[in-house]
Amino acid sequence: MNTIKHIGVFTSGGDSPGMNAAVRAVVRACIYHKVKVSAIYRGFEGMVENDIVEMDSRSVAHIVDKGGTKIKTARSKEFKTPEGRQKAYNNLKERGIDALVAIGGDGTFTGAHLFYQEFDIPVIGVPGTIDNDIFGTSYTIGYDTASNNAMRAVDMIRDTATSHNRLFFVEVMGRNAGFIALRTAIACGAKAVMVPETTVTPPELLALINKGKTTHKSSSIVIVAEGNENGNAMELAAKIKELDDSFDTKVTILGHIQRGGSPTTFDRVLAAKLGVAAVDSLLEGKKDIMVGVYDKHLTYTPLQEAIKECNFIDDDLLRLVEILSI
Ligand code: F6P
Repeated sequence: MNTIKHIGVFTSGGDSPGMNAAVRAVVRACIYHKVKVSAIYRGFEGMVENDIVEMDSRSVAHIVDKGGTKIKTARSKEFKTPEGRQKAYNNLKERGIDALVAIGGDGTFTGAHLFYQEFDIPVIGVPGTIDNDIFGTSYTIGYDTASNNAMRAVDMIRDTATSHNRLFFVEVMGRNAGFIALRTAIACGAKAVMVPETTVTPPELLALINKGKTTHKSSSIVIVAEGNENGNAMELAAKIKELDDSFDTKVTILGHIQRGGSPTTFDRVLAAKLGVAAVDSLLEGKKDIMVGVYDKHLTYTPLQEAIKECNFIDDDLLRLVEILSI
């Protein structure tokens, strides 16, 4: 039997497109099930500072198509202290909030898991990050939009690169993961991709780029994930220039442009599924887990595992870049 009366929902860590759609899904699913629901603004920081507002179905009207997060996000130092977490718990208790839905990445889940352990408050994680680096789900909310944003930007770079016969290094986001880089590289026909998960030395990269000369390529694009071990795109371009000065080289850092904009259909539908699944899970008595997707199915992964394990890029996709860039 359901004992949950009031759910608090928050977004935390780096925003990702589709977070609003996820918040909307959580709020509406709660109202559908006649459970009270409040938005905790600015993630854990708002929980500590009591920045909490009760929601109704209209509170989340017309946000499904908006990027960013309307209920804001933050990285809280105070929540990392036992005193901060006690304050957060007291605020929830005072309002009768007896369960949480945490939308974010592994930093968010680390905080949520700790909070559950200390105060026994049921919490469900919803993976929301552009990096797609969360174990236990094939997709995180925002990854599809971010990689489409990157793809469109690189398509535009291609026009100018080809006009000038240039070599471009384009840096994309992904702190410790090459998902956005790999997808963008395949979708844009990049010459090579540099990701944190593989080791490609500058001389090896140069050899790949030089292959393009023999096949008369009019431009070459190297997609660089920000977390790759040879340094950022600027540093990598400098290393290649040191080895071979014959290219007309340019560097573009796409940066936060990748994180903004209206979410794709894929991200909106994923957010709808996972938001509703999070509320269903709480009402079924599940706790301390993350909801995700694999193929068409929902997955339920203990938060501790989602934090500890990694999601790996697909080696077959790396092979595609090599085959298709000849
Ligand atoms: O985790 C999402 C992400 O966009 C990473 O790809 C990036 O390294 C990081 O956040 C940047 O964070 P911020 O914008 O908060 O500095």
